[in-house]
Amino acid sequence: DWTPDSFIETTITALRQKLGDDKVVLGLSGGVDSSVAAVLLHQAIGKNLHCIFVDNGLLRKDEYEQVLDSYKHMGLNIKGIDAKQRFYDALAGLTDPEKKRKAIGRVFIEVFDDAAHEVQDVKWLGQGTIYPDVIESVSVKGPSATIKSHHNVGGLPDFMKLKVVEPLNTLFKDEVRRVGKALNIDPNILGRHPFPGPGLAIRILGDITPEKVAILQEADAIYINNLRSYGVYDKVWQAGAIFLPVQSVGVMGDERTYENVICLRAVESLDGMTADWCHLPYDLLAKISNEIINNVKGINRVVYDISSKPPATIEWE
Ligand code: XMP
Repeated sequence: DWTPDSFIETTITALRQKLGDDKVVLGLSGGVDSSVAAVLLHQAIGKNLHCIFVDNGLLRKDEYEQVLDSYKHMGLNIKGIDAKQRFYDALAGLTDPEKKRKAIGRVFIEVFDDAAHEVQDVKWLGQGTIYPDVIESVSVKGPSATIKSHHNVGGLPDFMKLKVVEPLNTLFKDEVRRVGKALNIDPNILGRHPFPGPGLAIRILGDITPEKVAILQEADAIYINNLRSYGVYDKVWQAGAIFLPVQSVGVMGDERTYENVICLRAVESLDGMTADWCHLPYDLLAKISNEIINNVKGINRVVYDISSKPPATIEWE
């Protein structure tokens, strides 16, 4: 019978046999899959696992520091890389969503390749691929899709010439969570909502500037903290704030202002393929709206997205 403990035991034994004294590099995203893969590999080969966590400047507020901290607490051998400016430079002036995704994927590969180079004699690339990714690689739109398309053009980055080790590639998401729990991984990491690889770049319509990112981070943090304190975070499949570069009128005393809109999105879903908007309580929405408008400079209006997928995708880009 499959149990998390039996899976962990057989996987660690198999990883030790397969990897011996070899070194592995693995990119952590802060998400469930890469975290569980990293902890399994760490238990199997210890310091021979070299983890890399990139700050692309498109993460949630304080996420980089918090996630890096909790990985360090887990004892992982991890290197954090602040690459914010490289991503902002690559994104400057881009408005097309697919061009934005491509630019982010490209810079991610460059940054990761540089970091992987610093690990002497590395032989393997560790990945948190799970079974649905294997059978449905079509639905993967993140950096991994960009990585795959590089296969066809030759000139692979060095890290891609590594052999690949994917300890979770037979598991479904709920099994990964159970394994993570049995490995004592921080419940805050295991219970996190899905978050797209391109991050806040696809939650800011149009071009990206560090100023817009900072505004969205503040609004999004108010939103997510309220979902947590109201006790609904775990009932929502995915939630996030979206920055709409649409100016509307506000009044401040005798003055009229023209400022941007924040849209709140929250959905229920099983796998992200279809989704229904969440019927969040009005009093909660009212509190979030007030807090955002009173505290986030540059925002004078908050709206709630009541569209389901299909046709409205979860992200706005
Ligand atoms: P959509 O917007 O297509 O999103 O309804 C479905 C799920 O996929 C995530 N998503 C992405 N994940 N790179 C990713 O890694 C991407 O480019 C990307 N676009 C969408 C989205 O957050 C949702 O969970």
